[in-house]
Amino acid sequence: MSSAPMTQDELKTLVGRAALAHVVRGEIVGVGTGSTVNKFIDALATIKDQIRGAVSSSVASTERLQALGIEVFDSNAVGELSVYIDGADEIDGRGHMIKGGGAALTREKIVAAQSRRFVCIADASKQVQALGAFPVPVEVIPMAAQRITRQFAAQGGQAVLRLKDGAPLVTDNGQHILDVRGLKITDPLAFESEVNQWPGVVTVGVFAHQKAQVCLLATPQGVQTLQYD
Ligand code: 5RP
Repeated sequence: MSSAPMTQDELKTLVGRAALAHVVRGEIVGVGTGSTVNKFIDALATIKDQIRGAVSSSVASTERLQALGIEVFDSNAVGELSVYIDGADEIDGRGHMIKGGGAALTREKIVAAQSRRFVCIADASKQVQALGAFPVPVEVIPMAAQRITRQFAAQGGQAVLRLKDGAPLVTDNGQHILDVRGLKITDPLAFESEVNQWPGVVTVGVFAHQKAQVCLLATPQGVQTLQYD
């Protein structure tokens, strides 16, 4: 009798647990945001006595970490972190990612930049040949949203203001999110650099400068480790 295929939720649990092997004991770990990271946080609680604590990339992750008894440090209160563990909406064959489906992209990029290694945890549905099928999240200062929308339209992108409960979603930083469809991202590094310098853009959800060094990819056959450096 063959067993039932693993659900996406079970794959996330599997990879969340596998990430524990990348946590440096005795140190502070950088923690991302999202449903896959929630599984990692739950797993992290089982070794909380072996780490000093975490730097968190969102209010949601902070609340989950603290509820499980894991100390959360201000990013300004600590130096470089050895590892940052986070999910992705898409990851390509070089470790470039689209992130921000959970609206936490700015703080995610900040904690990633503070860390020597980015370990991405994802299920196989997130692996792509080229970035861009998932709408690119861009955190913007609200007064610039219309002009940035026109700048994306000039590049063939359709930017839509993200809503929550019928009103513009407000990020942990008090800003808005545009989700941009229809972009052809042939050079993620150049794309990230260009969009980042548009006035009013807080963060673009392409992580090429802060790419992953490792991806733990959950598949029905188990967790694969992909290295990019
Ligand atoms: C949040 C993110 C998440 O890492 C990304 O959206 C993946 O989330 P999930 O693990 O729920 O699929 O970038 O801003």
